[in-house]
Amino acid sequence: MIEAYRLYQEWVAKTLHGGGPERIKAQHERGKLTARERLEILFDPDTFEEWDRFVEHRCYDFGLDKQRPLGDGVLTGYGKVNGRPLFAFSQDFTVFGGSLSETHAAKICKIIDKAMETGIPVVGLCDSGGARIQEGVASLGGYAEVFKRNTIASGVIPQISIIMGPCAGGAVYSPAMTDFVAMVEATSYMFVTGPDVVKTVTSEVVSSEKLGGAKVHNSVSGVAHLSYASDYEALHEIRRLLSFLPNSNRENPPLFQTGDPIIRDDSSLNRLIPENPNHPYDMKEVILTIVDNRDFFEIHPFWAENIIIGFGRISGQTVGIVGNQPMILAGCLDINSSRKAARFIRFCDCFNIPIITFVDVPGFLPGVDQEMNGIITHGSKLLFAYAEATVPKITIITRKAYGGAYDVMSSKHIRADVNYAWPGAEIAVMGSKGAVEIIFRSEKEDPAKIAALTENYREKFANPYVAARYGYVDDVIMPHQTRQKIAKSLEMLKNKSIVNPWKKHDNIPL
Ligand code: HXC
Repeated sequence: MIEAYRLYQEWVAKTLHGGGPERIKAQHERGKLTARERLEILFDPDTFEEWDRFVEHRCYDFGLDKQRPLGDGVLTGYGKVNGRPLFAFSQDFTVFGGSLSETHAAKICKIIDKAMETGIPVVGLCDSGGARIQEGVASLGGYAEVFKRNTIASGVIPQISIIMGPCAGGAVYSPAMTDFVAMVEATSYMFVTGPDVVKTVTSEVVSSEKLGGAKVHNSVSGVAHLSYASDYEALHEIRRLLSFLPNSNRENPPLFQTGDPIIRDDSSLNRLIPENPNHPYDMKEVILTIVDNRDFFEIHPFWAENIIIGFGRISGQTVGIVGNQPMILAGCLDINSSRKAARFIRFCDCFNIPIITFVDVPGFLPGVDQEMNGIITHGSKLLFAYAEATVPKITIITRKAYGGAYDVMSSKHIRADVNYAWPGAEIAVMGSKGAVEIIFRSEKEDPAKIAALTENYREKFANPYVAARYGYVDDVIMPHQTRQKIAKSLEMLKNKSIVNPWKKHDNIPL
């Protein structure tokens, strides 16, 4: 038996080498941690249980018969994060560039299958040169097996990807199908075809960073939701993100004792909105003031900044927050902001997270570019997402709620449960000036008359009381009361249960 134990030690030692000291050194010199070091940071200390560390690839071509590293370029298993369970895989760039073989894929598939059965989230740490070139179609098949599982698991368990190195070719589609994609600045990139192929096909000369770096995907394409300066920061922040989320769609998000009293002095909110309705203010300040301990986990902070999305807590309960941002494009809805918020709302609805919406929206952004690129379809995504969501929905109109955007932004008509407006709210088909210019076009040569008519229109419609008279807002409240009103509403809605009619799935305008 002693011999068996000695052999066991030898085998285990072999699993810890990765691609050897030289490649590990190169990994560190690039500012990247190894696959194992990353898992040590992601999980609570001594909780990671590794699976399949003795797995080898099955390829015997192109010299691979002589290179058979144990684990085959990916570490998989489960452990605890903040005391709660999590499955994870971590690709090892020091082994064949973290490339995905048939067996590498099978290891990932195994943990996703188990995560779905057990209702536990999956985090993928991606650092891979893509399909294992020597394996050919067996590797492509492996990718497709992972894609299939990402799809089936969507809406069942939260799936999060952290891109910590290259992510090229079809490999990008697995992260893209997960709920949140984080990237590490300067060391990670994602593209379907890399700079060399781009140059050959289109003659465009572009660097990896410019084509698919963290900055591009976080601020231009919107492919990534989060961007971090280092592996360490990314892993820590994803631990924080997980603290807001339930383990699966079968659970509610975890409840925290945040120690932040519901009734506290929020009178700063009463002074936040400028006298001039055309002046901006920072909606993030409204959100930070209202959530517990100013703790707000913003998603997509650098893309479509005219809308803010993210997670916070009220009375320790996770809420998803959506808010128009008057500081950017006056808070108008456009293609990107509609896509951004719609996907987030659907995530919250999948995972039993109530949605709080702060509205200050002058309408949809006018423009040829917006129309040509399909604002009709993209804007309707947001409308659709709000209308189909069955989780508790609470809406606060802080200032403007104009036109179609009033309907879209979680109005009563599309099944918001509780709708409040602040006293300065303006709920109308459009701004007073624009309205008068249209309905009194013949008077346009008489500025004094136009001014009087505008004031008259403002008095009549640019207030919350017309909507309140219809019952479209349930109450007009002072800004400083908002936190307690939301807390009471959430408590009242705790057992809300509405069910959409049976269907295979809906047909959201993609
Ligand atoms: C096998 C690979 C590999 C791959 C890298 N390696 N990519 N081995 N299959 N796809 C190996 C290298 O041979 C090398 O081995 C080690 O990993 C490190 O690679 P380097 O090139 O030295 O590193 P670096 O200079 O940092 O460049 C990294 C890289 C580059 C940008 C990822 O290796 C690269 O371009 N690889 C190919 C990318 C690619 O085209 N993948 C296929 C995409 S198509 P040694 O032994 O020297 O350490 C695809 C289809 C998926 O993925 C379809 C799904 C639908």
